[in-house]
Amino acid sequence: MTSPQDRHRAALEQAEASLAEARERAARNPWRLRYHPAAPAYWINDPNGFCFFRGEYHLFYQHHPFSSEWGPMYWGHLKSRDLAHWEHLPVALAPSEDYDADGCFSGSAIEKDGRLWLMYTGNRWTGPDRDADLLQVQALAVSDDGVSFEKFGRNPVIAEAPQGDIHAFHFRDPKVWEHDGSYYCVLGSRTQDHRGQALLYRSADLIDWTFVGVMAGGREDADILGYMWECPDLFALGGQEILAFSPQGVAPRGDLYRNLHQAGYLLGRLDYGTGIFEHGGFVPLDYGFDFYAPQTMEDDRGRRVLIAWMAMWESEMPERAGDWAGAMTLPRVLTLENGRLLSRPAPELAQLRGEEVRHADVTVGGAEVGGMGTAEDQGGGAQEHTAPASGAAAAEAASGGTFRAGSAARRGKALPGVSGECLELEVEFDAGTASAFGLALRVGEARGEETVLAYDRTEERLLLDRERSGAGPGGVRRAPLPLREGRLRLRVFLDRSSVEVFAGDGELAMTARVYPDAGSTGIRFFADGGVAEIVSLSCWTLDR
Ligand code: FRU
Repeated sequence: MTSPQDRHRAALEQAEASLAEARERAARNPWRLRYHPAAPAYWINDPNGFCFFRGEYHLFYQHHPFSSEWGPMYWGHLKSRDLAHWEHLPVALAPSEDYDADGCFSGSAIEKDGRLWLMYTGNRWTGPDRDADLLQVQALAVSDDGVSFEKFGRNPVIAEAPQGDIHAFHFRDPKVWEHDGSYYCVLGSRTQDHRGQALLYRSADLIDWTFVGVMAGGREDADILGYMWECPDLFALGGQEILAFSPQGVAPRGDLYRNLHQAGYLLGRLDYGTGIFEHGGFVPLDYGFDFYAPQTMEDDRGRRVLIAWMAMWESEMPERAGDWAGAMTLPRVLTLENGRLLSRPAPELAQLRGEEVRHADVTVGGAEVGGMGTAEDQGGGAQEHTAPASGAAAAEAASGGTFRAGSAARRGKALPGVSGECLELEVEFDAGTASAFGLALRVGEARGEETVLAYDRTEERLLLDRERSGAGPGGVRRAPLPLREGRLRLRVFLDRSSVEVFAGDGELAMTARVYPDAGSTGIRFFADGGVAEIVSLSCWTLDR
């Protein structure tokens, strides 16, 4: 008879063999991200076990190492010294036991007595209906070196959902932390009649767990918060507590909740005795298309760092044809300032920067000059391209109506040295007399490709438009954002198939996967209905 350790090792070896065979193909794919954390090949979803262990960041992730489709879940593993450069480590968990036979679902990590513990959900299907025929339990695995993991001998450590108005089977994604000498864990759940909620548990040793209570959700939050909460995460910040989670089934409301599922947070206070979390309203963590199941950790400097899956369950993921699917967002540092959660890219990402190109005091919009633009940015002198906004868009812009991108690149200005596939841009605009302004990214005029980031002054909204981004899905996302003294600061990270935007001083983030042609590297700055000014602009090429 084989031991559980042998079974686990054998399953992990098969996963490694499959990845070894595919990784070169994935690396050659033109959309392969240059500097984002991802699996060596094949399918990835939620970040798991994000932690700091023996001086290094460890990031695990939901992984199917045999294809670019979701399947029985493994835990892939990356580590980093600096949040900017990531190293692949062997696959950490494989479904090898009865209690996790159909997947090692999402969970978290914690250090105890010098060892690294993973707490995850063991998933089993009990019939053909993936929403109804399932059994979920909570399990542990442990490692001495932070690289190879053994499953705990007395798994599962939480064998069934608690009594009460709690669904018996949808019961997953433990996030564990230490508080006042005890361990706590929050679990994603729903009521019996399908209203999302979070459950709190306590333990003295990570092994024996006591149910404390329903932390939030259920009937109390039924009108806003959907039928299931996935990947809850409770952490303290700035003297308050934040419960981040990913609700499924939230109805669209105006500009908000336009993706299949959402990810956001509640700000409040947890009563550790009763388990009740008193809180305010739900706030999205990102207003783009591709951001789900975020997880946070606290590092040795006391910073709260967040990483999310840079995709969404409905996503098309055209990179699948290149033997990989999905990636993580860049790490974002969270702070709570004036009752608001701000998210800023980790400062360490500056290590990825090449030489800086700077511009200042550049006017955009107004009288359009010149002929049709070149196919791509040639980097030679500022060029302004004529073809003004299509009649309708121009009329709308002039009348102060809702901004429509039209072909923003066509009416925009290129700046010397500002183009590329993998870039960071830091730009401050003065809105001037413009009714809308912004930039077209990943412009390829010959193909009509552009991804438009625009500020609509009339509506006081930032827009991310990927209708003409290239292959893959289109769509527009809008987010509320007031200007500050008529100015807007943007930080934009472009990778070969992604855009991450940080606006203001971290007030708002928008994330999207886009799939332009590798030759679509132009950037154009535009303003409608008046002139705007680029007060300052820095551009760096990024590479790992
Ligand atoms: C969230 C999620 C989790 C689950 C995992 C399975 O994206 O559905 O709730 O543990 O993915 O891969």
